[in-house]
Amino acid sequence: MSAPNKSYDPVEVEALKPDAIERMRADALAAIAAAGDLEALTHVKTAHTGGGSPLALANREIGALPPQAKAEAGKRVGQARGAVNQALAARQVELEAERDARVLVEEAVDVTLPYDRRPAGARHPLTTLSDRIEDIFTAMGYEVAEGPEVEAEWFNFDALNFPPDHPARETQDTFFVEGPDGGSESGVVLRTHTSPVQIRALLQRELPVYVIAPGRVYRSDELDATHTPVFAQVELLAVDEGLTMADLKGTLDHMVVSLFGEGMTTRLRPNHFPFTEPSAEMDMLCYVCRGESVGNPDRPCRTCSSEGWIELGGCGVVNPRVLTACGVDPEKYSGFAFGFGIERMMMFRHNVEDMRDIVEGDVRFTLPFGMEI
Ligand code: DAH
Repeated sequence: MSAPNKSYDPVEVEALKPDAIERMRADALAAIAAAGDLEALTHVKTAHTGGGSPLALANREIGALPPQAKAEAGKRVGQARGAVNQALAARQVELEAERDARVLVEEAVDVTLPYDRRPAGARHPLTTLSDRIEDIFTAMGYEVAEGPEVEAEWFNFDALNFPPDHPARETQDTFFVEGPDGGSESGVVLRTHTSPVQIRALLQRELPVYVIAPGRVYRSDELDATHTPVFAQVELLAVDEGLTMADLKGTLDHMVVSLFGEGMTTRLRPNHFPFTEPSAEMDMLCYVCRGESVGNPDRPCRTCSSEGWIELGGCGVVNPRVLTACGVDPEKYSGFAFGFGIERMMMFRHNVEDMRDIVEGDVRFTLPFGMEI
């Protein structure tokens, strides 16, 4: 390391002369201003502030100057270096802003461009459940049967053994499309249940008949959390030789096991329907508590109100009068039938609390059920 040299003349150190420093600073500032992008600025930075830059080299000469000259030269070089660093930082900010603005333009996505893919929809969970029930029975050899929603009163009531003045014609709150005086003997109604499909199936098909018939039905109820004037039912009819109530019970049990899992079962309670004899109300074991909430205050069940059972619908052995009305010999054939509302079952199965959600058709309701097929 060179020691201070009293006879050393700073004027002789070219690199430290004021105009030399000024030139270095001017050159650096000009180069910084001329740098067109961040990469160019990196090169300028190395060239004008790096170890080999004129200002760095000049700085190195300072140590060898006598004290007075050292202070002056140090100040000059320090100021020049400070000015260069400041200009570099300012240009860096400018160039970064330019780059960001350019990237925003170059990589912009036009969100208003037409969308080339249709959003995936979802099946209505009611359709999915209805298909699932259909599948359970078609797997056992049943066929899917259909009937019209605008139905002759004869199919909806008369052939099902409802007498003309039967109160059920009113308690079912029927929508009449045409009264019986509308030219024909039978009136026309929006079907109040899927049971008329039983009649159509018996009239149209060869025996034995095993059909499952899901479909829409109508009753003049107000729409609220538990009622809807349009809803879905599923009807089942089996007519063959030697069928009994035991076959009905086994079929129902198989259905609830298929829908809700092992250990599920059903129970029958006496009831009356004109088209079945005997008739029963069918309940299924509560799929949540499996009956364990009954008499067990520590484990109350909201789903079945701790009753252990959930009411599903009606069923029974086909009334011989129905068979006769359809030209089937009740001495030779017997059968069983059941029918229930699908919305209610869906509400249990998916914890839907308000029936209006099922009816309104809002995709925000149907989407979470996905695309189960
Ligand atoms: N159709 C009846 C109703 O809507 C339900 C029903 C009861 C259907 C008994 C049946 C049956 O097939 O056997 O209330």
